[in-house]
Amino acid sequence: MNEQIPKYLVAGWRRYAWLGGMPLDQYDRPLRDLRISVTDRCNFRCRYCMPAEVFGPGYRFLARKDLLTYEEIEHLAALVAGLGVRKFRLTGGEPLLRQGLEELVMMLSNLEGVEDLAMTTNGVLLESHAAKLRRAGLHRVTVSLDALDKEVFGQMNGVGAKVERVLRGIERARSEGLGVKINTVVQRGINESEILPLVRWGSERDIPVRFIEYMDVGETNGWRMDQVVPSAEVFERIAAEFPLRKLEPAHRGEVARRHQIGKRKGEVGFISSVTEPFCGDCNRLRLSAEGKLYTCLFAESGFDVRELMRAGRDKSLLLAVQGVWADRSDRYSERRGAGKNQKVEMSYIGG
Ligand code: GTP
Ligand code: 5AD
Ligand code: SF4
Ligand code: SF4
Repeated sequence: MNEQIPKYLVAGWRRYAWLGGMPLDQYDRPLRDLRISVTDRCNFRCRYCMPAEVFGPGYRFLARKDLLTYEEIEHLAALVAGLGVRKFRLTGGEPLLRQGLEELVMMLSNLEGVEDLAMTTNGVLLESHAAKLRRAGLHRVTVSLDALDKEVFGQMNGVGAKVERVLRGIERARSEGLGVKINTVVQRGINESEILPLVRWGSERDIPVRFIEYMDVGETNGWRMDQVVPSAEVFERIAAEFPLRKLEPAHRGEVARRHQIGKRKGEVGFISSVTEPFCGDCNRLRLSAEGKLYTCLFAESGFDVRELMRAGRDKSLLLAVQGVWADRSDRYSERRGAGKNQKVEMSYIGG
């Protein structure tokens, strides 16, 4: 399939300025962040991501032989680090379902240029994994936590998983020295009541909580605009209780708008991809577990680099990464609904 890099890709990047070997994309956005999905499987069935009626016993997940090996992931990460990328994140599905993940963490943390190594997890396996992940060189985890209330949490994760386990995982991660942030997807009528308790909980522990607008990723969650709680509304609910003070972005392309909670500890963030798209600064490349490069969360297809790696074609691999980025003109969230179909699933691409 990858016998030759398509000419349009090569032509694409030739026209563009170079930043230490890495071209800018069609809207002059640099590549700054690689997100690596290590599995498309998950032990949760959150309705907004993997509805149980679709991702049931008959669902065909990726086969073992189709997954990139840790050596292959390391190879690609090294190449991307060589092009100046410093920020790396492991995602899934649920990344902790992949056997021996700490080996990959160690391989990546030893790569020159890897300055920030994070993982997104649902946290249910974190308690038993935190110590080895930290020892292997992981810097921080982002834990998805949609509710503190047992009932609401159990309902939202679709498998009745217990919130206490996730909370214990978070505590263990912190005591092992991992940085922790929380992601909360807010859905109308489902977990709005959890917003203030989560803000209080995060502030008491000095853990940033980020509220995410429910997005129309994939084709299976049956997304409707009336299920989205706009960040402006979440902001108002919090501001009615706690004074919020805007914080400057920590870096260009930061997706969360952050606020300090009065004189308290902790902070809240708002990720508003539906009502305030941030495509203008989007600097992320995503690698699927089977070795496809995606330049947008809402993409329909990716560029297969697995076969190039398996054939040892390193020059072509480099050209492919540069070409895929140079050719990129994604800005889905700014155009929402404009003729896209068969978008890739969030559990496959990793969020
Ligand atoms: P930090 O590295 O701590 O800044 O985290 P992050 O901003 O990379 O956040 P994280 O990976 O936790 O992303 C949080 C959520 O924001 C994701 O799960 C998605 O729901 C959403 N998100 C992240 N990146 C993008 C993006 O490029 N586009 C869109 N539309 N949403 C995104
Ligand atoms: N909208 C917004 N965020 C989502 N996530 C998964 N599906 C959606 C969606 N439809 C988030 C999860 C997790 C990350 C992997 O992606 O909450 O934090
Ligand atoms: Fe839920 Fe994350 Fe699993 Fe999706 S990948 S079902 S959001 S825990
Ligand atoms: Fe980037 Fe696509 Fe998200 Fe826009 S919608 S910020 S282009 S990943």
